[in-house]
Amino acid sequence: MTQALDRWIYAGQARRQPAAIGSVTPSGRQLAARLALPAAELPAGGRILEVGAGTGAVTRMLLRRAPRASVTAVEPNQRFARLLAQRYPQVSVYPAAVQDAALSGGPFPFVVCGIPFANLPTAEVRAVLGCLRRQLADGGTLTWFRYLGAVATDRVLGRRTRERRAANRVLLQNFCREFRTAHRAVVASNLPPAEVFTLRGRGLAGAGRMG
Ligand SMILES: C[S@@+](CC[C@H](N)C(=O)[O-])C[C@H]1O[C@@H](n2cnc3c(N)ncnc32)[C@H](O)[C@@H]1O
Repeated sequence: MTQALDRWIYAGQARRQPAAIGSVTPSGRQLAARLALPAAELPAGGRILEVGAGTGAVTRMLLRRAPRASVTAVEPNQRFARLLAQRYPQVSVYPAAVQDAALSGGPFPFVVCGIPFANLPTAEVRAVLGCLRRQLADGGTLTWFRYLGAVATDRVLGRRTRERRAANRVLLQNFCREFRTAHRAVVASNLPPAEVFTLRGRGLAGAGRMG
């Protein structure tokens, strides 16, 4: 019931803000589980930052994997942010874009990012990555995802969109290289299929690759 309601709310907001939301349905269970996996490694009270929490598909999984963690969620869509705050009173919800939020509690040993980087203006991607750098603790872990097939769909897009998306990919590739390791996992069952990157050890002799 909750999931059907979430899908309905999500689809309504995605119609209003297709670029910022980036998909028509929340992440499926397997994608959420993969993104939240490192939460299980945290000690009790460990701090987690979730960026782009949407209707809480990943938030729910974080709380399941690490029930005693302290979770901070950032979500600029006001409808989603209200839903998150009502449903998860134990989570600190910031109803803002991450680059505009005055976050407390950082730096965080685990950050999970659900932002649709491919769709955003390159300046916003740069600003978000700057925030992630500041908010991730030294040696911490970050997970993020993107939908598979984006490069193929680029072919049917206009030149400016293609160039923007290519520039965003380069920024993300360089960002991944700042980490000691980058692990990629495909979640083919998600709609749309996605790939999850788990980046560990930022600043520790970076060699991570997006694969
Ligand atoms: C693809 S949805 C993912 C939602 C949720 N994490 C999930 O997996 O179902 C991306 C979310 O990122 C949010 N978002 C977009 N730009 C953002 C920004 N600059 N800062 C924080 N969140 C942002 C959108 O409002 C949207 O809820």
